Amino acid sequence: MKVDGHHFRSIWVAEDGWGIELIDQTLLPHRFHIKRLETLEDAVTAIYNMWVRGAPLIGATAAYGLCLALRKDASDQSIVQASEALLATRPTAINLRWALDSLKAGLLPLAESDRVAAAYEYTARLCDNDVTTNSSIGDHGHAVIRDIQKKKPDNDTVNILTHCNAGWLATVDWGTALAPIYKAHDAGISVQVWVDETRPRNQGANLTAWELGQHGIPYHIIVDNAGGHLMQQGQVDLCIVGTDRTTASGDVCNKIGTYLKALAAKDNHIPFYVALPGSTIDWTIRDGLYEIPIEQRDSVEVTHLRGKDNRGKRCEIQLTPDDARAANPAFDVTPARLVTGLITERGLCAANRKALYSLYPDQHQ
Ligand code: MRU
Repeated sequence: MKVDGHHFRSIWVAEDGWGIELIDQTLLPHRFHIKRLETLEDAVTAIYNMWVRGAPLIGATAAYGLCLALRKDASDQSIVQASEALLATRPTAINLRWALDSLKAGLLPLAESDRVAAAYEYTARLCDNDVTTNSSIGDHGHAVIRDIQKKKPDNDTVNILTHCNAGWLATVDWGTALAPIYKAHDAGISVQVWVDETRPRNQGANLTAWELGQHGIPYHIIVDNAGGHLMQQGQVDLCIVGTDRTTASGDVCNKIGTYLKALAAKDNHIPFYVALPGSTIDWTIRDGLYEIPIEQRDSVEVTHLRGKDNRGKRCEIQLTPDDARAANPAFDVTPARLVTGLITERGLCAANRKALYSLYPDQHQ
């Protein structure tokens, strides 16, 4: 997608052919800054400190982290240790494990001398596939938005609510939940997006709003508690969110607060869609509510806010009493029964085991 008219991906190999560059998302929307990674430790820091975030992008960054580790030591032991360090950065998004496992499986049978080149090649392919996958998700989701618009009187504006950031910044390009919105807008459908601010880290207010603005898509940021009211008032036509891990039975783990939006959507008969690539499906667990590890993050994200002051300087302020304690679960699970449909790169399906296996027959039951 474009930043000030120039095409960018969220991560890429630097001109020297080995360093990794990415957009530091902790500084957006106020500063566009590119960071360079040169070591495994840099990649671990990038994911842990959330310079990059979003399930597919975490996977791509971890894969490049393994490439960097191999430049120093391409032994079996190094591959295993680097994977463990990368896996420990964030527990919930399954794409991290998926990317590392598939890279490891391709590298371990190779001679040590061939591993670095193969790792870079494999990761470049993984990134390219992410882009085409998300573009397909966009095409299938665009059709959903188009059908909803057709049912509106006078082909009116379609109002879409989204939570967190599942746009191109959360992937290599296009995004998952935002890809259908970009495709619909580009095809001439009038869309307006309700952007949940997404406390505590405000990925909606900071990142989704910035992305949509760069693409010229009309939006309003709303506080996280406003969605239910807007739905009751008939101002939301559909919800589309992303996911960090979806079970084979269709339970959807995503940014904290997603579940409450799904409940409100159900109560108001508003379609609630989840956009995801096959790599976000965890085929190994049965119960999303009890088996998905939910990341517990630092309480400072709840007690403090970051932004810029009146002079345009970055600052952090404390919201709460000095001795306040805060809990900060970062994700929740929306049960499959609240999900209208899954928008995947292979098409739409119901959020249940039978439908998912028929879309992904290569995943044997
Ligand atoms: O904590 P984050 O910012 O990594 O959480 C991201 C989300 O919850 C996204 O909705 C999810 O990763 C889908 S990204 C296409």
